[in-house]
Amino acid sequence: MPIVIGAKPESNFQDPIGLLTDCHRRVKKFAMVLRHIGDLRGSLLDAEQRSALDTALRYFREAAPKHTADEESSLFPRLRIAAATGDPSNSVLDSLDSLEADHDVADAMHAEVDSLGLRWLADGVLRDADAERFAWCAGALVDLYERHIAVEENSIFPTAAGRLGKEELTAVGLEMAARRGIKETLFAIEF
Ligand SMILES: [Fe+2]
Ligand SMILES: [Fe+2]
Repeated sequence: MPIVIGAKPESNFQDPIGLLTDCHRRVKKFAMVLRHIGDLRGSLLDAEQRSALDTALRYFREAAPKHTADEESSLFPRLRIAAATGDPSNSVLDSLDSLEADHDVADAMHAEVDSLGLRWLADGVLRDADAERFAWCAGALVDLYERHIAVEENSIFPTAAGRLGKEELTAVGLEMAARRGIKETLFAIEF
């Protein structure tokens, strides 16, 4: 199964919520790849399995942190302001705190998976306790993302789409583009 990082997204930076949702599909896909490889329990991988592991590790090392930054630095702060000024319920604010805690947990597990996965690729096999730890973390990450993404897509993103104005969403999209070194000039002119 060929896996391409950076394949053209279905959405664009003028639709930041759509783009974040596209990212979720890749997060879920690559987490499933890690779990599948983890299920091989440290055995000698064939060329396709090695490539899949290398690609998934690279995705979580290089691309996924930008998604986390999109949320923690661009979307969530604007939602916090919107929720604090207009919504009598603190449920959105509580959810944002919980989602950021999830990011920290996921980051720690990815650091372990990355270290173990790189060792697996370098040595050819991964031994007992390390193989079990890799498999456990990969499985936990799949479960975490399933729950985490459901909260974001069923609660946070609809709230953002409903509560943030066009200018705020445009600013989120511009920051996301800048984070990836993309200059959205037409977008800026329309804004
Ligand atoms: Fe998130
Ligand atoms: Fe997300």
